[in-house]
Amino acid sequence: MQDTNVMLEARSLSKRYEDSVLALNEVSFTVEKGEIFAMLGANGAGKTTTINIFFNFIEPSAGEARVDGIVTHKDPLAAKQRLAFVSENVMLYPNFTAIQNLDFFSRLGGRKDYSRSDYHEVLLRVGLQEEAHDKKLRGFSKGMRQKCGIAVAILKDAPAILLDEPTSGLDPKAGFEFMQLLDTLRNEGKAILMSTHDIFRAKEVADSIGIMREGRLVMQKSGAELAAENLENLYLEYMAGKTVEA
Ligand SMILES: Nc1ncnc2c1ncn2[C@@H]1O[C@H](COP(=O)(O)OP(=O)(O)OP(=O)(O)O)[C@@H](O)[C@H]1O
Ligand SMILES: [Mg+2]
Repeated sequence: MQDTNVMLEARSLSKRYEDSVLALNEVSFTVEKGEIFAMLGANGAGKTTTINIFFNFIEPSAGEARVDGIVTHKDPLAAKQRLAFVSENVMLYPNFTAIQNLDFFSRLGGRKDYSRSDYHEVLLRVGLQEEAHDKKLRGFSKGMRQKCGIAVAILKDAPAILLDEPTSGLDPKAGFEFMQLLDTLRNEGKAILMSTHDIFRAKEVADSIGIMREGRLVMQKSGAELAAENLENLYLEYMAGKTVEA
């Protein structure tokens, strides 16, 4: 029987790109409502490929990704409605102000009911200082753009949020605040899937951590299982070729 708490699911997901690199090799995992799953792994391990399949930016070669039970490559529109995306390089309009970006992307997503004060409120929630709300993004730092990106994702109010290296390039305080924000979103019941190279923060915030190597999920453990472990040493062991967990 389908577990109704499961929001995101990868089922034996495999991807071979045209030039025949096997980027994903039978990857399976689930992310439940109110859960954060963090994917760690070397450059080229397949993290972005996994996230891109959930959005149907690319199709799997075998297996499937499901969002709330919907197979992403069979019904991509319905799947995307349930997903919000935050990437390292947030795609927002540099010539729009923060508020204009929020308004544009909310309307694009079919939300026409937000007011200016809703936009101000969410920008304050993500920690963007008030004096920047009506300034063009062109002059924003990376962290400020990132905050706008997560504000867009929050306004979409999707049940699942996927983040590709969201804290890369953020200063330590911004990184800390970002993780706090993910924590509150998790507590609101969102299912969160993120890729990161930040072992320390992953251990701090995630309910479950996966390590990917050469397209395979070579380890998946819960935060509780990892509490007593030195995750950095464990990561290095898996990178050095420790075999797949039974
Ligand atoms: N469009 C593409 N065409 C061909 N090969 C690709 C394409 N995108 C990714 N790959 C290959 O697939 C593999 C997985 O790449 P992917 O971007 O998913 O890794 P990643 O884990 O996100 O790495 P990083 O930590 O560097 O972001 C790599 O070998 C990469 O070269
Ligand atoms: Mg990547």
